[in-house]
Amino acid sequence: MNIELHQINKQYGKTHALRDLSLCISDPVNVIVLIGPSGSGKSTLMRLLGALESPDSGELVFDQQPLLQNEEALLQHRRQNGYLFQSFNLFPHLTAAENIELPLIKVHGKKADEANKLCQQALEKFQLEPHQHKYPSQLSGGQQQRFALARAIAIQPRLLLLDEPTSALDPEMTAEVLKVIETLSRSGQPIILSTHEMGFARAVADQVIFLAEGKILEQGSPEELFGKPSHPYVQNFLSKVMRY
Ligand SMILES: Nc1ncnc2c1ncn2[C@@H]1O[C@H](COP(=O)(O)OP(=O)(O)OP(=O)(O)O)[C@@H](O)[C@H]1O
Ligand SMILES: [Mg+2]
Repeated sequence: MNIELHQINKQYGKTHALRDLSLCISDPVNVIVLIGPSGSGKSTLMRLLGALESPDSGELVFDQQPLLQNEEALLQHRRQNGYLFQSFNLFPHLTAAENIELPLIKVHGKKADEANKLCQQALEKFQLEPHQHKYPSQLSGGQQQRFALARAIAIQPRLLLLDEPTSALDPEMTAEVLKVIETLSRSGQPIILSTHEMGFARAVADQVIFLAEGKILEQGSPEELFGKPSHPYVQNFLSKVMRY
């Protein structure tokens, strides 16, 4: 997949969340990890990449197709991606399995038996079958996130966008979810994720992007970016957070 962003700007009132941001990601990159301080624009960038929001100016191009002038391309793009956010991913009034099946039927136009088959395949992948008839309140945080991940991959997404998928979890549940993400990335699923877990970022990323104040300060392989960062701000940030 080729992704190009050209001079993207996004403002919320007076906050300039993304500033003239340009980015080029080309095949065969599988896992892109966004890191950077809180408020640097990671979640904003993820929402724009998934076309959940539009920029104030600039253009997004996916596989040579410009997205923003074309409403049909935008809708199609939105349907093709899988999302996982920090928390509140599951509908509380539906069982875990219904949470996966219902969007397949309502949003993606699948028949009930096909939706059930896709759901069971996704559950099998994450060993979640025994819990599928529980409601979200009866699941642990790690299990809820694994169900949300199963839902995101059940649609066989072109791109999986994971915004801090582990930040609401304790260390054991974090490890559980990270293992699933690692398995997905090994199977060739294109993933863009944001995280504050530097160890994980380093282990799983093909490319790391460092954001600060709505700009990309540095982009490179994990070896380059964590091993010998060139931007002084990145050096300083990493030397602080990697100490612990
Ligand atoms: N819907 C919104 N309304 C107003 N301001 C917003 C909105 N979304 C984001 N912002 C602001 O835009 C800036 C970037 O926010 P964003 O959530 O993208 O940062 P982030 O890098 O994801 O931070 P974190 O690591 O804490 O999740 C912040 O200053 C934030 O307060
Ligand atoms: Mg965020």
